[in-house]
Amino acid sequence: MKVLAVVSEIFPLVKTGGLADVAGALPLALAPLGIEVTSLVPGYPSVMDALADAVMVRRYGDLFGGPARLLQGRASGLEIAAIDAPHLYARPGNPYIGPDGRDWPDNAIRFASLAAIAADLGAGAVADFVPDIVHAHDWQAGLTAAYLRYREIGGARPGTVMTVHNLAFQGQFPAALVPTLGLPWSAYTPEGVEYYGAIGFLKAGVALSDRITTVSPSYAAEILTSDGGMGMDGLLRARAPDVRGILNGIDDTVWNPAADRLIARNFNGAHLAERRENKVALQARLGLAAEPDRLLFGVVSRLTWQKGLDLLLDAVPDLLARGAQLALLGSGDATLVDGFVAAAAANPGRVRCVIGYDETLAHLIQAGADAILVPSRFEPCGLTQLCALRYGALPVVARVGGLADTVIDTNEMALANGVGTGLQFAPVTRDALVAAVQRTVELWNEPEAWRTAQRNAMRTDVSWRRPAAHYAALYREVLAERAA
Ligand code: ADP
Ligand code: GLC
Repeated sequence: MKVLAVVSEIFPLVKTGGLADVAGALPLALAPLGIEVTSLVPGYPSVMDALADAVMVRRYGDLFGGPARLLQGRASGLEIAAIDAPHLYARPGNPYIGPDGRDWPDNAIRFASLAAIAADLGAGAVADFVPDIVHAHDWQAGLTAAYLRYREIGGARPGTVMTVHNLAFQGQFPAALVPTLGLPWSAYTPEGVEYYGAIGFLKAGVALSDRITTVSPSYAAEILTSDGGMGMDGLLRARAPDVRGILNGIDDTVWNPAADRLIARNFNGAHLAERRENKVALQARLGLAAEPDRLLFGVVSRLTWQKGLDLLLDAVPDLLARGAQLALLGSGDATLVDGFVAAAAANPGRVRCVIGYDETLAHLIQAGADAILVPSRFEPCGLTQLCALRYGALPVVARVGGLADTVIDTNEMALANGVGTGLQFAPVTRDALVAAVQRTVELWNEPEAWRTAQRNAMRTDVSWRRPAAHYAALYREVLAERAA
């Protein structure tokens, strides 16, 4: 089976968050199941650099205002089809945001291009690569199904899957762009791309794809409610029989404490003592007091409202009053950045915050912190808690979305039965977070129970093995339906 994945970022070529991790790992997990994935991505500079030996498979004289070429090649073990369109993508830095911190003003056509070429390939434009399934990820790829439906491309009719990684980002653009995007006005209906008086990229994908998936079973349920549906719950409820929640995994070769070259000392569940050297290294690197017996909380996150880190900021005094340290790595909203920088300045040796994006430090925090805090208000899946499980840092998480689905709370019954892997709290408030910090401290003071939870965490299967099988089954279901 051939699958065309359509995605705006892919690890290790370009990454702003978990979407890239998923796009970079899922194809590798599907390969052993007989599913060949080619990933269509915009030709940002980092992508073009990685694809030095690619071959040109198609030329476009005018792709929304400039010439473009489709290049096919391999990079980091992935089959990549890259859209070389300098007028759209030859810009350094973040794929979505310009140097002024605002969305690129032409994002509508930048990502319509991605979808239009996906539809072209889906319809069989390149003879030796005709996909059976076109799998679009997030709003940037959302128009794919719309182009397949409304453009007169003819040709093959692939099955279509739309995966929602985060319903908070829907890609809405003015209705006046309909002709600019090369869509007929007949597409601008409630059944098509129209969404609250504008064009909805994600909405189009949700309305027009054969199946809609999201990245955990709990989030799949949450988005059908008015609380979690972010305006799209009506449509999602109408499509409920076609909505699935498939949990993410992580690439367990990238995230492997026994072989990770980005950490100070390798370790595994049978050699937990060695883990301590990573804590010592982390404290030293960040300038935290060299006190390996002190409970050290870590955070690796985008600093946004979604992630609930304003609650953590408010809880810093409570965390310190309980004797803990805090190491945070993140970037994002200015108020949160300022808040955490101030908290670190006020508490030298106890709180350190590194503002920025740093892959190496992210690994060291996972390997060296005792617990990883994820107080998200909503979380479609979340990957940092999966990394934490694998690295024996107990995840302390809000009981929402994928966090609820992946962490087993070490409550009294779990303790009695030795099955907990972390801690959950609800509701997502400062007080509940502080209560969870208190429970973490109590567990820390029972070293035997802590080690049991750590070993349980490290034994958890966070790989792509099971999720990949679910995607494979879903693809087959779509193809069977098409054939019927
Ligand atoms: P989201 O995609 O919503 O940001 P996820 O938990 O799914 O959240 O994925 C986040 C990914 O980005 C993880 O791989 C995490 O390690 C990484 N990450 C987030 N912030 C940083 C940062 N400041 N530096 C390095 N890696 C980061
Ligand atoms: C989004 C979500 C996150 C999820 C990631 C990958 O960024 O916020 O929860 O893990 O996509 O699916």
